[in-house]
Amino acid sequence: MQTEVMSWFDMEAPIFAFTHCPDVAAAVSANGGFGALGTTRTTVDQFAIDLKWLVEHSPDRPFGVDVMFPSRAPEEFEEMTPAQIRALIPKEHEEFLDHLTAEHGLPVSTAEEKEQWVEEYVTKRLRTHAEAGKRLELVYEHPMAQMMISALGVPPQEYIDRAHDCGMKVASLIGHPKHVQRQLDAGVDILIAAGYEAGGHTGDIASFVLTPQVVDAAGGTPVLHAGGIAKGRQIAAAMALGAQAVWTGSVWLGTSEAETTPVIKDILFEASSGDTMRSRSGSGKPVRRVKGGFIQAWESEGAPRPLPMPLQSVLVEELFGKMDKYQTRSLLSPPAGQTIGMMSGETDVRGVIYDLMVEFGETMAAMEEMFSAE
Ligand SMILES: Cc1cc2nc3c(=O)[nH]c(=O)nc-3n(C[C@H](O)[C@H](O)[C@H](O)COP(=O)(O)O)c2cc1C
Repeated sequence: MQTEVMSWFDMEAPIFAFTHCPDVAAAVSANGGFGALGTTRTTVDQFAIDLKWLVEHSPDRPFGVDVMFPSRAPEEFEEMTPAQIRALIPKEHEEFLDHLTAEHGLPVSTAEEKEQWVEEYVTKRLRTHAEAGKRLELVYEHPMAQMMISALGVPPQEYIDRAHDCGMKVASLIGHPKHVQRQLDAGVDILIAAGYEAGGHTGDIASFVLTPQVVDAAGGTPVLHAGGIAKGRQIAAAMALGAQAVWTGSVWLGTSEAETTPVIKDILFEASSGDTMRSRSGSGKPVRRVKGGFIQAWESEGAPRPLPMPLQSVLVEELFGKMDKYQTRSLLSPPAGQTIGMMSGETDVRGVIYDLMVEFGETMAAMEEMFSAE
């Protein structure tokens, strides 16, 4: 079986994997799928290390790189100094966060430490087009880097053109059928329909409703179905909806190759599909996360409303760093989709792909039998 998009990337399995871990990306690509490496959590220096690792461990297989092009006002922030950006964070929000930090036994930063943190974050990780561009500069020279993915928003024209000049395809995640035309007009080659149940940034339309609408609006441009895929049966269903392959994320968090910590793996394996929710508290835009203490605090009565992107990240990412360092279980609210209710223990990439493909094949055979039966 091969769809057009699978033939573009020499794929044997119709499975794209989004991951922040180069080991997972390399293993997925090596096992017939397509690994797409996230860049939004890392500094440029760290991304350079991750990319080098990926290229060394999977030199002959195509891979993709996912960047973020938030559509509103990133340029405005590019012009501002860290102190000017910090001044946009209301006192109320800072106090709320200090209180939450102390309440969970974590060290509250001094004014000087906060200032240093904002300086570091704004100069190295602020989600702007320029920051995405710095990461992409490292990618263009690699012949196996064959797809640029935009996590949010229509990629700016110069980045689409540059990716095309380098022989790369351009893909975009979208959460609403009304976004299709803008992406097509800009020259995007692959649409990723990301449904409500997906981990990470999501819209509010369920994937079973979104994918067919995006397929119909796309006029032949390949569509990938994202959200809720943890079984081969679901791949068959996604392809029946018109998707040429699936785009997955959460299912890789439980693999041995993933950098998911043991505490977070426990949280994921114990959770049911009802234990996640969309919250703006991590980035300013709705992200599906496990309902841990961090999210619940922001959803509680009297909590301030999360700030718009990118200010909310400037505010909360320092605490995320502390939560990661101390593995504060009472606060941790990792991004993950509803499929975590279908995950109960550690797996490995090869095993996940094998199981997905076996069940996909069995489903297709069972459907054929069902319809051919007298
Ligand atoms: C932990 C985690 C982090 C994510 N971060 C990003 C990201 O930085 N960029 C992006 O395009 N998508 C991100 N996503 C969303 C994935 O690209 C994908 O759309 C989603 O995981 C698919 O749904 P699923 O989780 O049900 O498989 C993330 C997903 C997860 C689970």
